[in-house]
Amino acid sequence: MLFYLSVMAATRIEVAASAGAYPILVGAGALEGLGAWLDAGGLGPQRLVVSSPAVWALHGDRVRSILKGKTREPVLVPDGERSKTVQTVGRVYDALIKASADRSVVVVALGGGVIGDLVGFAAATYLRGVRLVHVPTTLLAQVDSAIGGKVGVNHPLGKNLIGAFHSPRMVVVDPLVLSTLPRREFRAGLYEVIKYGVIADAALFERVRATRDALFAHEPGALESVIAPSCRIKAEIVSRDERESGLRRILNFGHTVGHALEAVTDYRRFRHGEAVAYGMLAAAAVGARRGITHVDTAAAIREMVLELGPLPPVSDLKATDVVAATRRDKKVVAGTLHFVAATRLGATTELTDVTEKEMKQALRGIGIR
Ligand SMILES: NC(=O)c1ccc[n+]([C@@H]2O[C@H](COP(=O)([O-])OP(=O)(O)OC[C@H]3O[C@@H](n4cnc5c(N)ncnc54)[C@H](O)[C@@H]3O)[C@@H](O)[C@H]2O)c1
Ligand SMILES: [Zn+2]
Repeated sequence: MLFYLSVMAATRIEVAASAGAYPILVGAGALEGLGAWLDAGGLGPQRLVVSSPAVWALHGDRVRSILKGKTREPVLVPDGERSKTVQTVGRVYDALIKASADRSVVVVALGGGVIGDLVGFAAATYLRGVRLVHVPTTLLAQVDSAIGGKVGVNHPLGKNLIGAFHSPRMVVVDPLVLSTLPRREFRAGLYEVIKYGVIADAALFERVRATRDALFAHEPGALESVIAPSCRIKAEIVSRDERESGLRRILNFGHTVGHALEAVTDYRRFRHGEAVAYGMLAAAAVGARRGITHVDTAAAIREMVLELGPLPPVSDLKATDVVAATRRDKKVVAGTLHFVAATRLGATTELTDVTEKEMKQALRGIGIR
């Protein structure tokens, strides 16, 4: 009965994709429905769960019992950003080949964004593509990386340089798995939720503010009511712009400076969301200075970011280096940097003429030298 209720309680969000629409099933307890949903979606019987030792130690027993012996032993690969490499993908290929997996195999990625991206890339390329199901276990993966079909790995010379578009067949998002997530990881994901609020949903932004304590206490209802709308926003945007030809770029709010901060610190200092938090402060500053971002909106973004907790220091970084890093980013299209600015909470505009001087001013405003 409990199982039935929890399955029924999940919110279903459809994502349109050229390879076929797929559902995101969001709800506290949604994981309990995984086996039934895979069966109902014809996603089996051959399944291979790929996870990391850390995630499997915490949630493996539950997943094993939910899939009730219908799956072989999971493949465990390390999940740090440093492990997001073609070598680790090779280990997933090895396991698929050893398991004699054919085109009918369903690869289930259980973990954070690193597992989702690298396992997704393995699924995109093994036998020229096999079916993929995401079961994201970090807040960031639940609201962002598991949705939209971007998969890939890092190259020693740059992040996410090797990749593909490979949509999953299903995404199962259970806020209950976040109960084991370290606070810093949780906070990092929350900055992406705030980003969705800023770009598309003022009510979501307010809800994060109003339910902050409940969110940090991992209250299922509170989590669900910020995770589901975030998934819906990402789903809507990627449904309308699968290959990032335009609209999808608004997801990059805060990411111009965010990615640059990650790059100049060699991906060691910040969790991605933390760098985006600084990026949102910088975007608010650029927008406010131009009179594009309403002063109240800029203030609300600043307050929210600062209230959520400490961010790693930036005072030793040089604005010149950060600006140079923005020029090398993938958001530079044919030499033009696309910069997303908020006009007010829930609405954005794209700027293609942000000068170095403006960037430096904004960076100094957030404490960079
Ligand atoms: N494909 C996309 O569209 C997209 C979008 C955004 C980010 N990303 C990628 O996502 C990656 C970051 O993902 P992330 O922030 O999830 O990091 P991550 O996958 O490295 O996970 C962070 C840490 O949390 C641990 N963890 C995961 N689930 C846990 C749980 N339930 N309880 C306790 N610990 C848990 C992991 O073991 C890891 O140590 C980056 O590589 C980034 O490039 C991809
Ligand atoms: Zn991001």
